[in-house]
Amino acid sequence: MCGIVGYIGDNPAYEILIKGLHRLEYRGYDSAGVAMVNGKGDLNVYKTRGKVDDLERFCQSKDIEGCVGIAHTRWATHGEPNDVNAHPHISRSGRIALVHNGTIENYGVLKEALELQGCTFQSETDTEVLVKLIEYIKETNDCSLVEAVREALKEVVGAYAIAVIDTEDPDTIIGARKSSPLVIGIGNGETFLASDATPIIEYTDKVVYLNDDEIAIIRRGEPLKIITTDNESAKIDIQTLKLSVSQLEKGGFPHFMLKEIFEQPRTIRDCVRGRIGNTGSAVTLSGVIEHADKFLAARRIIIVACGTSWHAGLIGKRLIEEAARIPVEVAYASEFRYSNPIVTPEDIVIAISQSGETADTLAAIQIARKRGAFVYGVCNVVGSSIARATDSGTYIHVGPEIGVASTKAFTGQVTVLTMLALAIGQLRHTIREEDVAKTVEALRNLPELIKKTLKLNDKIEHLSGIFTYAHNFLYLGRGYNFPSALEGALKLKEISYIHAEGYPAAEMKHGPIALIDRELPTVFIAPNDDLHEKIISNIQQVKARGGAVIAVVTKGDTTIAEIADHIIEIPEVPEAVSPIIVSIPLQLLAYHIAVKKGCNVDMPRNLAKSVTVE
Ligand code: G6P
Repeated sequence: MCGIVGYIGDNPAYEILIKGLHRLEYRGYDSAGVAMVNGKGDLNVYKTRGKVDDLERFCQSKDIEGCVGIAHTRWATHGEPNDVNAHPHISRSGRIALVHNGTIENYGVLKEALELQGCTFQSETDTEVLVKLIEYIKETNDCSLVEAVREALKEVVGAYAIAVIDTEDPDTIIGARKSSPLVIGIGNGETFLASDATPIIEYTDKVVYLNDDEIAIIRRGEPLKIITTDNESAKIDIQTLKLSVSQLEKGGFPHFMLKEIFEQPRTIRDCVRGRIGNTGSAVTLSGVIEHADKFLAARRIIIVACGTSWHAGLIGKRLIEEAARIPVEVAYASEFRYSNPIVTPEDIVIAISQSGETADTLAAIQIARKRGAFVYGVCNVVGSSIARATDSGTYIHVGPEIGVASTKAFTGQVTVLTMLALAIGQLRHTIREEDVAKTVEALRNLPELIKKTLKLNDKIEHLSGIFTYAHNFLYLGRGYNFPSALEGALKLKEISYIHAEGYPAAEMKHGPIALIDRELPTVFIAPNDDLHEKIISNIQQVKARGGAVIAVVTKGDTTIAEIADHIIEIPEVPEAVSPIIVSIPLQLLAYHIAVKKGCNVDMPRNLAKSVTVE
């Protein structure tokens, strides 16, 4: 988490830094700060608790002059969100400023060692330790800033992306990364640096993704130089971004989340483009074709992911087991990495991640690779750390997702997993061609079906008004739609702060049924499928205990319409793609309830979109 931006060039840095912070606010928004060196060589540091808007207010009537600077938007790890703990942090002399995304695990030891040398600390952060260590090394060894950064990073255990400026060397920014992302934008006489490409795109489309253990030396008027922490010079691979500024704006919607929900007909079209044709049943995933030997030989698949991506993984398990007859396990990456997992070269590990930066998922990949597994990524952000750390993969291609609650990325992930299951099944001859054809046809029709489903928006908005009173919600589903229930509940709790629990509908009788009363609404995800009769009896059980029922059903389901208090009718789709369609009303329900409760849906409290810390 945390977002960092840096700029050096001929233009005023402040505007560029602030605009960049706004773009990165999805990474954290509990405090923000900037540091710039002005024309007189003074370092001005402004930071405050709150969002980037608060920082802008704070900077009004301050000296914001300077064409070099760094900035930060924070998601607190060490120390509560307050003005002192906000970044940038400065060195003892006040000459060096540093912003950091990540966690310095051995900061306690480093801090004690520096205290013995007379250093004092104002904040509770690990970052202040790093900037003070850099200055200590610089002064003790009488070396350059870059040399001091390099030496300091050799002492550090943990994850970091940093940007450093120094008034003694005001025409330089030093950037470095290990496990946290850092992108450098190469403009015309100006250079940018950021946690992702979104703050850079309107100035240049030429970027360099820094690799782990690399240090970028960005000097005004000089070409970019990259060295490793072992002081070897590193290759500079300039890439061209495929991103447009309009993708980063709300496009007339009140929130990014609503915009992203409504984008889904297009994002799903982009996701399947080139992978399924206008006719026929072929599914072409280059990652599967190029590594057919791995998919043919695989004895087991392990899916690792976090949050919403983990829910997509649960659906992926069913899809792959059904189509490819390979046993699939789904693990939380954070549990997997510390479980001494049994992974062999005959396993395929699929890592699912929207951002491609989630620290736990990245660590799980590293373990899996060490143990010889072939690792396949399902990511959204092109060029992200996970995309680069995997052996192969499939991008979901849904464009930047900015709302913290994942919507279009989830449906994109499930769509890719559906195609992946079919592609592996076709390769292994474990699925009948007519079944492939049926699902491929459904995938082809998805954009139109989602468009139809989005017409429910007004009805769901009205419905949401009835339920803002609730303090708890239950979401129940079976089969493919048990994970949909988990995801529906997660959406609601993330953005409305209403406690919501997702459960397999039949498990309700083993616990959650005790909670049911007039105060607890239950959302049933009950489209027509093999278990339809069973879920009807689960609905009856809730109704018999006085609970209100909202049921997501297939259009024309008169049986459930008679029992449920409210129904949301979705178009008829084959069971395997139903989680994609049912997720639309669940996203809308969570969105409208949260808006009616006055919550900030795009930036819910305590959450961040890209979780680059443990
Ligand atoms: C955070 C986000 C979630 C996301 C999860 C995993 O918690 O708020 O929306 O599902 O991280 O992120 P990833 O980028 O790996 O999919």
